Amino acid sequence: MVGEGLTDIVIGGLETGDLPAVLEIELASFTTPWSETSFFNELKNPRAISRAARKDGRVAGYIFASRILDEGHILDLAVHPDFRRQGIASALVAHVIEHLREEGIRFIFLEVRESNVPAIKMYGKFGFEEIGIRKNYYVSPDEDAVVMVLKFGE
Ligand SMILES: CC(C)(COP(=O)(O)OP(=O)(O)OC[C@H]1O[C@@H](n2cnc3c(N)ncnc32)[C@H](O)[C@@H]1OP(=O)(O)O)[C@@H](O)C(=O)NCCC(=O)NCCS
Repeated sequence: MVGEGLTDIVIGGLETGDLPAVLEIELASFTTPWSETSFFNELKNPRAISRAARKDGRVAGYIFASRILDEGHILDLAVHPDFRRQGIASALVAHVIEHLREEGIRFIFLEVRESNVPAIKMYGKFGFEEIGIRKNYYVSPDEDAVVMVLKFGE
């Protein structure tokens, strides 16, 4: 499933020069987008993992994750509306899962809006399980978060 047919998509690092493209996708994807400062701080954070999916050199999607001890956390993921349903998010998630697995991580956690069926379905395909709800985690609009976890070695 993951990445099949994505021969023209290249996964690689993100740099501050990519931030305008990242912000454009972020604004098109979320009602409460991360700010430029938030992205900048993540790019400078040594614990952070940031990756872009590029098509013809253009940023088509990105993912941010973090690692503390044996836990990973997916913090942000979005694909440009023009490039959705082509397996790009799946390729980014697969890349980060593999990276964290190689680093000896045992769990990867994430939060997602409970109405975000596309994302919940995608994470489910990777084996993420719903383990709880964080009440009123999101604003604009107010909404609960579904907490999901992927456990390695099970
Ligand atoms: C969620 C998101 C990242 C998916 O990106 P994508 O590149 O389109 O995802 P993929 O093509 O890899 O899709 C993988 C699977 O996810 C599910 N999926 C993706 N979009 C879907 C949709 N609109 N409706 C239903 N299922 C969907 C499907 O199971 C899909 O597999 P399939 O195409 O074989 O049916 C993208 O829609 C997005 O950027 N949304 C806005 C930001 C967001 O919600 N980010 C996640 C926050 S946790």
